[in-house]
Amino acid sequence: MGSIFAHRLSNLPGLYAVIGDPIAHSMSPNIHNALFENLNIDAKYEAIQIAKGQLREEIPSLLGRGCRGFNVTIPHKVDIISLLDELDPLAERIGAVNTVLVNNHKLIGYNTDGPGFLESLKQFDKLNINDAKVLIIGSGGAARAIVMTLAMNGGAKLTIANRTLSKAQELLMHSKTSGRAITLDEAESCLAQYDVIINTTSIGMSPQRDKTPLKLQNVKKDAYVCDIIYNPLQTLLLEEAKAKGCYVQNGVPMFIRQAALAFKLWTGRNPDLNQMNNIVYQNMLKK
Ligand code: ATR
Repeated sequence: MGSIFAHRLSNLPGLYAVIGDPIAHSMSPNIHNALFENLNIDAKYEAIQIAKGQLREEIPSLLGRGCRGFNVTIPHKVDIISLLDELDPLAERIGAVNTVLVNNHKLIGYNTDGPGFLESLKQFDKLNINDAKVLIIGSGGAARAIVMTLAMNGGAKLTIANRTLSKAQELLMHSKTSGRAITLDEAESCLAQYDVIINTTSIGMSPQRDKTPLKLQNVKKDAYVCDIIYNPLQTLLLEEAKAKGCYVQNGVPMFIRQAALAFKLWTGRNPDLNQMNNIVYQNMLKK
């Protein structure tokens, strides 16, 4: 009975999804559906709203529809872990999952956010992240993905700055690196030390578009300043960094690379990053 069911499912077009709440404005369906079309893959990708606390009730019906993989976003990135059969070591260390692969009726959890960010740094062709002094601003979920990935990658010297110092200290301890945890004021005064500065907080996004997480007066002229925010495409932090002569990167390269890594896990195919980039910019410019 089970094998017949599995055989019938495999003849259906593939179903993929992103689950979260809110989810209506997710760009992931536009991106993945365009990639499926471009690569002639018979599959579709849906945005599915699931409220906090409803995963155990809702996931079985998604699987019953033949879902082969899904992305997980706010508020489920941590809660999904208790429903998985296997967890990738990096996702385990991050403590959050953004991509699930359904393989032989098993749910396997991954985190492609941190690796997506690490890959995005390759856009800076002169930067060697393994030799760099890196300042991470923030200590929430996004910071955790980036810190753990950089820590596992090795090399980079990490400093974490946060409004609440205890959270930065906790994240640093968890990362098992010999870095530093400092306040935002300290970060401002010793900013000249850092080769790479990464904003992982929501400061710069609406309704805080006219704010920056810290002042850049001491930044090095040739520092790399990254913001993981992509709406707006250019935060005030990036605008100020550019004016100081820094190299800048918004959140789009990380966003498309986390999606590309998920797509590769599901299909084994490497998607076209340029196509993905164009879709994101077209969507953003419509807003
Ligand atoms: P995410 O999961 O998206 O990273 P989060 O877990 O809510 O979001 O984390 C938000 C981060 O932004 C935290 O580091 C937070 O600082 P605190 O730990 O002190 O709360 C930081 N943050 C948010 N708003 C801020 C503000 N107005 N000023 C300074 N830091 C802020």
